[in-house]
Amino acid sequence: MTVPASPHPPGVTYPPGFTWGVSTSAYQIEGAAAADGRGPSIWDVRCRTLGGVVNGDSGDVACDHYHRMPEDVALMRGLGVDAYRFSVSWPRVMPRGKGAVNQPGLDFYDRLVDRLLEAGIEPWLCLYHWDLPQALQDLGGWADRDCAGWYADYAALCARRYGDRVKRWITFNEFSVFTLFGYAIPWAAPGIVDRAQHLRAIHHVNLAHGAGVDVLRDLVPGASIGAIHNRQVVIPETDTPENRAAAALLDEHWNLVFCDPQILGHYPPQTAAAIEPYVQAGDMARIARPVDWFGLNHYGPIFAKADPARAWGYGWGDAPPDSPTHGVGWAIFPDAFRDELLTIQQRYRLPIVVTENGCGGSDSVGPDGAVVDPHRIAYLTIYNAAMREAMARGADVRGYFVWSLLDNFEWGSGYGQRFGIVHVDFQTLARTPKDSARWYADLIRAAKTDIAAA
Ligand code: FCB
Repeated sequence: MTVPASPHPPGVTYPPGFTWGVSTSAYQIEGAAAADGRGPSIWDVRCRTLGGVVNGDSGDVACDHYHRMPEDVALMRGLGVDAYRFSVSWPRVMPRGKGAVNQPGLDFYDRLVDRLLEAGIEPWLCLYHWDLPQALQDLGGWADRDCAGWYADYAALCARRYGDRVKRWITFNEFSVFTLFGYAIPWAAPGIVDRAQHLRAIHHVNLAHGAGVDVLRDLVPGASIGAIHNRQVVIPETDTPENRAAAALLDEHWNLVFCDPQILGHYPPQTAAAIEPYVQAGDMARIARPVDWFGLNHYGPIFAKADPARAWGYGWGDAPPDSPTHGVGWAIFPDAFRDELLTIQQRYRLPIVVTENGCGGSDSVGPDGAVVDPHRIAYLTIYNAAMREAMARGADVRGYFVWSLLDNFEWGSGYGQRFGIVHVDFQTLARTPKDSARWYADLIRAAKTDIAAA
């Protein structure tokens, strides 16, 4: 890949107030899975299911952030980030998903929020990053319409508890990943394959989002509310009518079935017909509550192929053989990121925050104690340049968060894929900032100098 010398193309400055951050999620970093009254989530159960996760890994210990949180906040302070996006673990604060609350779990996020504010870092709180309490899954999970109400009660608990100090709220992370891989292609918890349940889950998660926005508006004065969507152009693996049809349906399920109803008030065409049996009077208005910004998680394009053995007749194809990819095998294609930002701007007309972007690999600490990760620096450099290009062409991007602060439990890939800008030794739990951490700190410093000079 061609890497520009500087991620700051000349003549383009960041708008004042642009937010630089890092992202994590609860199950991927906290560990302490059985500590202080936390209940099991669907991911604890999946990790115990043979074959659910590479190497039989689990988030039982992860980065042990639950016990090492002050050290992690200090690392962030060292980077100079403005903001930290984290998620609350629903089963840590409500072990059975509804009813009784767990004080030690609630206290943990109090300590985190206070520590962040002391360090001058703004907390961005995401209510749901995939770890549904197992007790709710046992009652039907997202396929049950009541789940939207359970979620709203949980959102209210968090809003009342943290809303005095937390003003940036996110209803969900990557709606389409956890619904599609949870209910149609079984790569994530709960690992069900059932088209009807998938459609029901889509609709009920949309209802939960709308209910969450209402709760946050009511309970948190001055809340700035967003939802995080993974959007990636879907490209047919090869240009055949079957692959084109597969790509069109995957595009709906991946890119449209959440953004469109939430922001435009309707489902895209193929899904609208299929989902009708689950939609009740008034639902579409309940879903389309105004939000303040659009959260985008983006890594690279995806390739689709017809796969009649899969629930919806589509499957994941391969990138063209000569494409640059990063450690996880995902295609590196910064123009698609630029174009995605412009598409979102035109289609949804909201300020955009890039809430995840990053590069996986298998980094290790060298004999001199350094973690050298030029592949990550190259990726982040060209993706930042693509973002700047989109901004220069009119995309209203207000912030950028790297995925991730720490190497962590990377879902079905276990600990085999490292996305952190800080290396974690999963034996000793020692943290070592990688070269990319220094690169990111420099980028932030340079961007702020740009703004000051403007
Ligand atoms: C995103 C997830 C995040 C992490 C990155 C690599 O899809 O939101 O938790 O796994 O991918």
